Amino acid sequence: MQTNTNTQTIIVAHRGASYAAPENTIPSFELAFKEEADFIEGDFWLTKDNEIVCIHDPDTKRVTEKKIKIKVRSSELSELKKLDVGSWKSNNYIGTTIPTLQEVLGIIPEGKGIYIEIKDDREIFIEKLREILNQFPIQKDRIRIIAFNPNAVQSAKKYLPEIETYWLFGWYFSKKKCLKSLAQKRLMQTLKTLNCDGIDVNAAPYIDEKLVKSLRVNKLDFCAYDVDKVEDAIRLINLGIDSITTNSPLKMREEIKKIIAIERK
Ligand code: G3P
Ligand code: CA
Repeated sequence: MQTNTNTQTIIVAHRGASYAAPENTIPSFELAFKEEADFIEGDFWLTKDNEIVCIHDPDTKRVTEKKIKIKVRSSELSELKKLDVGSWKSNNYIGTTIPTLQEVLGIIPEGKGIYIEIKDDREIFIEKLREILNQFPIQKDRIRIIAFNPNAVQSAKKYLPEIETYWLFGWYFSKKKCLKSLAQKRLMQTLKTLNCDGIDVNAAPYIDEKLVKSLRVNKLDFCAYDVDKVEDAIRLINLGIDSITTNSPLKMREEIKKIIAIERK
């Protein structure tokens, strides 16, 4: 896939252009593509009537102005569609609704793609995901699947082996603080058991040349999320990262270009 930067690093818009528009909504994803993101990233759950919808939390409280708490997994799509998930961000987005996976796939321009994060790790979610992705006219190389739960990563590879799947990992989730070398060793051990295509980690200092070398030796892709500081992006680009996920795609791309231009002078 082509990127727009003068590096090969793919820019992924976290929950869309979520710095400005309500996360995980069509306006946020459209803005991300307008801001030249290569991929969008969205979070997905399965409703009671087996529809896949795009929302981060297990319930709707945080993204509804009136703090209406409805559990996504135990609600029907029609019930969720009545909610306004835009106005909490700004009055410009009044009336924005929770999109279905098909609605999100439908606005992805040719040559661009999506990171589908599995939040609902029931096996039935993956079955439904396979059904939708096999019916929808989108090439599989424009899709990546990501999940924190190692079981969801394994299930995704089982049901959709042709789609690149990355294990999401947050260093802050480690219960005990441990030496960097030990943390990296544990990460690699788990990765090898998952049979996935790579790792998507938060932009932490634990990422270094040694870790990248181990990933590459094992033919694994290397991506990072929570990249909102250009210094982090440049450090990761210099380590040869495949994609960075940010809330602010255009700002990040422009800042990267500026720094690379200065370094090349
Ligand atoms: O891109 C990965 C990232 O989205 C994981 O964190 O909480 O934003 O889903 P979260
Ligand atoms: Ca996410």
